[in-house]
Amino acid sequence: MAACKIITVANQKGGTGKSSTVANLAYAIGEIGKKVLAVDLDPQGNLSMSLGIEAPDKTPNTIHQLLNALMDEQPLPIEMEYIRSNGRIDFIPSNLNLLTTEMNLRDEMGGEHTLTAMLDPLRAKYEYILIDTNPYLGLLTINALAACDSVLIPVSPQLWSATGLTDLLLTIRKIRRKINPRIMIEGILLTMCDERTNLYREAKKLIAEHYGGDIPMFQTEIPMTVRVGEANYLSMSVSRLDPRNKAALAYGNLAEEVVRRETRAG
Ligand SMILES: Nc1ncnc2c1ncn2[C@@H]1O[C@H](COP(=O)(O)OP(=O)(O)OP(=O)(O)O)[C@@H](O)[C@H]1O
Ligand SMILES: [Mg+2]
Repeated sequence: MAACKIITVANQKGGTGKSSTVANLAYAIGEIGKKVLAVDLDPQGNLSMSLGIEAPDKTPNTIHQLLNALMDEQPLPIEMEYIRSNGRIDFIPSNLNLLTTEMNLRDEMGGEHTLTAMLDPLRAKYEYILIDTNPYLGLLTINALAACDSVLIPVSPQLWSATGLTDLLLTIRKIRRKINPRIMIEGILLTMCDERTNLYREAKKLIAEHYGGDIPMFQTEIPMTVRVGEANYLSMSVSRLDPRNKAALAYGNLAEEVVRRETRAG
């Protein structure tokens, strides 16, 4: 099997489309025929719910238990017990208990490498692992940045702020220097785009001017459509809910773009 690529989806600004992107990109990469694992690293558990977990807080063997077992030097359960499948993609769920993990990680020697230790053995089973992070540049997100090969940054033109993105880029640079020298930026992905608005055009122009030279921008943009929220609510991909929907097509194109880059990078 081809080498595995771990992509962290991060932006410490809330509500920029991180969880929706992890879910729909994972489905779309799966549809291309690649083996994908989605990892929920957000205590809110939004990704877990949109992948079909009805009550994250009542769910055993979530990412919280796995990270704590590693910190306590206990064996992990067998993979079948913690890797779920909703029939289309494999995933590891999360719940609010992950908040205490974040505190435990602070007291742990080398705590920023805990997720790396958990995911590295899974590289042999998957071609892509996508990690959903919470809207906060704390130790959970640092763990995700330490464990990944690249970062995909969803940016919503409505919510865009130059300082937010600059902080994230500084953190990624620091991670590269101190913890994970191979980390790359996969690209900025514009989400919730409404081409009719001035805000969209203005933000797109500013983002390209500010960062376009240094950071790749995905050609694909994700349009704004209520179907994304509906699909999350119904625990399915937008493409399954409404195959002709423009966001469904966009996530399909995004998956092609991500996979094509890999082929080119050889
Ligand atoms: N393309 C889109 N068009 C319209 N609404 C969208 C789109 N993508 C996401 N949304 C909606 O915007 C809200 C935020 O999206 P999402 O939960 O994916 O963001 P997030 O970055 O993961 O948020 P958080 O920072 O809280 O984790 C959700 O209600 C979601 O349904
Ligand atoms: Mg989220």
